[in-house]
Amino acid sequence: MVSKHRRVLVTGGSSGIGAALVDALLASGETVIATTRKPEQQVARTNLQWLALDLNDPDSVTALLDHPIWETPLDAVVNNAGYGLIAPIESAAMDAVRDQFEANFFATIAITQHAMAHFRTYQQGTLMVVTSIGGRMAFPYFGYYNATKHALEAVYEALWYECIGSGIRVRIIEPGFTQTQFATHGMQTSGTDDPIHTQGLQWLSNAMKSGTTATPPAVIGQVMKSALESTSDQLRFAAGKHAGTLLTARKILPDRWFSSLIAKAVMRGQKAG
Ligand SMILES: NC(=O)c1ccc[n+]([C@@H]2O[C@H](COP(=O)([O-])OP(=O)(O)OC[C@H]3O[C@@H](n4cnc5c(N)ncnc54)[C@H](OP(=O)(O)O)[C@@H]3O)[C@@H](O)[C@H]2O)c1
Repeated sequence: MVSKHRRVLVTGGSSGIGAALVDALLASGETVIATTRKPEQQVARTNLQWLALDLNDPDSVTALLDHPIWETPLDAVVNNAGYGLIAPIESAAMDAVRDQFEANFFATIAITQHAMAHFRTYQQGTLMVVTSIGGRMAFPYFGYYNATKHALEAVYEALWYECIGSGIRVRIIEPGFTQTQFATHGMQTSGTDDPIHTQGLQWLSNAMKSGTTATPPAVIGQVMKSALESTSDQLRFAAGKHAGTLLTARKILPDRWFSSLIAKAVMRGQKAG
């Protein structure tokens, strides 16, 4: 592979998967611009510039898109920042659902459109988005979060077609459960005091705390770095333990079988309906 010095924008570079990618890129001598809601709390490093970005604040998104960083060619834009809303479908507050879509979907799409205009100018570049295995299947209490990731999957799949012959590469990263701040600080909740769901949510909370099957973020960072360097036209990259297996099972198993497997794993095998 031809080695080339890159200039990469990574949203949500302060923690977890984004931080792992930032580390991997800096270790390879790339220049990184990373975003966080708390730039004043970040450590200065060579070849790394911190910018403020709050996906839930449209003014903050506009400020990022108006920033002079776009006046110099970027090689890649990685849409990684996001959070998870834990909420029973029936009891979530609509404002919480709208906020979830604002951050994970609408703000991400605004950055995507801006990056596309930038890459069209130079007829090259890589657009990457971090979805989840939950972008291709859904889990109880993660339904709205999963919906944002399904929406991103559809948009990036359509974008892949629209970029054919343009020199622009489109990548979707689909991590499984990863050991990050996501399960502790990266989550918001709504409607979780609904007594109908106490038991299910308690089980979920214990399972997430244990995190025994989760993948270290450095593994996902390496998959992302390889996907950035790859010259193939591959769109989707499963990342981490169990991600590939679950995605393949989703693809080949009849719906009923697959849902029974998930129910057994996350809802103690309770029967639907
Ligand atoms: N962990 C998992 O199991 C898992 C699995 C599949 C997919 N993912 C996806 O991976 C991506 C990264 O998550 P992670 O696991 O690395 O979680 P994390 O450790 O909580 O990191 C999330 C990053 O996104 C930023 N962020 C969160 N909410 C934001 C907001 N409203 N506006 C701007 N920035 C925001 C955070 O930055 P600041 O707090 O510094 O602003 C942080 O850098 C997310 O898109 C997540 O959906 C995670």
